[in-house]
Amino acid sequence: MKTVLKNCKLIEGVKNIIIEDEKIRDILSSRKDEGRQLEADFNRTIDIRENLVIPGVIDPHTHIRDLEQSDKEDWISASKAALAGGVTTVFDMPNTIPATTNLINLDLKRKAAKKSLINYRFYIGATNNNLKDIEQIFGYETPDIVGIKIFLAGSSSNDVLEKSKIEDVFRIAKKYDRIVMVHTELQECLNKWDLKIKEKTIFNHNEIRNRECAINGTELVLEIAEKIRNKLYIAHISTAEEVELIRKYKNPNRIFCEVTPHHLLLNESILEKVGNFGKVNPPLRTEKDNTALWEAVYDGTVDFIGTDHAPHKLSEKILDYSRAPSGFPGLETGLHLLLNEVNKGNLTIEKLVELTSKNVAEIFDLKKRGDIKIGNYADLTVIDMNRKWKIDADSFNTKAKYSPFDGMEIQGKVVMSFVNGKRFEF
Ligand code: DOR
Ligand code: ZN
Repeated sequence: MKTVLKNCKLIEGVKNIIIEDEKIRDILSSRKDEGRQLEADFNRTIDIRENLVIPGVIDPHTHIRDLEQSDKEDWISASKAALAGGVTTVFDMPNTIPATTNLINLDLKRKAAKKSLINYRFYIGATNNNLKDIEQIFGYETPDIVGIKIFLAGSSSNDVLEKSKIEDVFRIAKKYDRIVMVHTELQECLNKWDLKIKEKTIFNHNEIRNRECAINGTELVLEIAEKIRNKLYIAHISTAEEVELIRKYKNPNRIFCEVTPHHLLLNESILEKVGNFGKVNPPLRTEKDNTALWEAVYDGTVDFIGTDHAPHKLSEKILDYSRAPSGFPGLETGLHLLLNEVNKGNLTIEKLVELTSKNVAEIFDLKKRGDIKIGNYADLTVIDMNRKWKIDADSFNTKAKYSPFDGMEIQGKVVMSFVNGKRFEF
């Protein structure tokens, strides 16, 4: 099956993309007469009408749930959300129930993920006593595993790794040349602040899960990685101080860092409007932190934008502060919020592509993805950059129909996605 996508606006100009089965077979200049000839030669022609075409987003940080939490999200609802948000590959987090911490549970997840409409990879979670399980898994050919995930604090049904075990996990990661992603908030620090801050409300979330805990945890893992010389990925940095630390330790081959759209674009001032819908770990911080995170994006300190799509039930999110879980959906909003920043002049499309697909594919060595190139898989996102619209959580595809961005007016909309050459339209 051959398809021609006519008049695709690529960064380098308007082109025709020829898709054969799952891959990009050719990229041709789109002169009119050539287009006519193409129509005769191919089974299907789709006119992209000079809409922008970028590589499908590869989200390195997604909580798909499913298994025993399929009421929160499953692979079908998550895939549909991903496609509507221009995401064609997700890296799924291990804090599912059951947790992806051994081979048996990994196989359960593999089975559940067969329903997926998009590409996926998994992280293995590290616990205080599963190092043998991790080694067992890495003993097999595991092209579907991208790395190890560590949580240094409780956040949402996750195992917490003791500080004393970090080094052991880093050593295993190094031995098998895998990346370790760390959620760096430190549990003992959070406990201290939890005792200190008596008034438990969403307005104190940023104090209770104090910035000190993320900063100290980030510094700790950077120091350990400096010693072991393994590949480290700091998830969702949220503070100006972490930016400074990462700059100090940055090594383009080993030390990587992610920021989320919500830590870039929101701060605690939104909580008055959105309440627990803005409860997330690490918390939304301050405007100064937003500015520091943008600087980190511009100067290359940040390698990836991860959505940290973390769906919970609406009925849980409307509980009082202490009982409402942390996290909110991000697959449908993530790229759209960044496109809006491109339209506002705060981000170039080149930088957006680096942060949302190119760097992930390169650093995680995903073969034939993350670039619109002859021979690569046809994972493509088609965007109408002029379309103005309003984020409407009620119409989300995810089961989690709420968002701190609900009601926001933005410009730039995904109109079509291709996954391995297969088309999805919106
Ligand atoms: O807010 C969060 N939610 N932060 C995390 O680290 C986990 C996530 C979840 O799984 O719900
Ligand atoms: Zn997460």
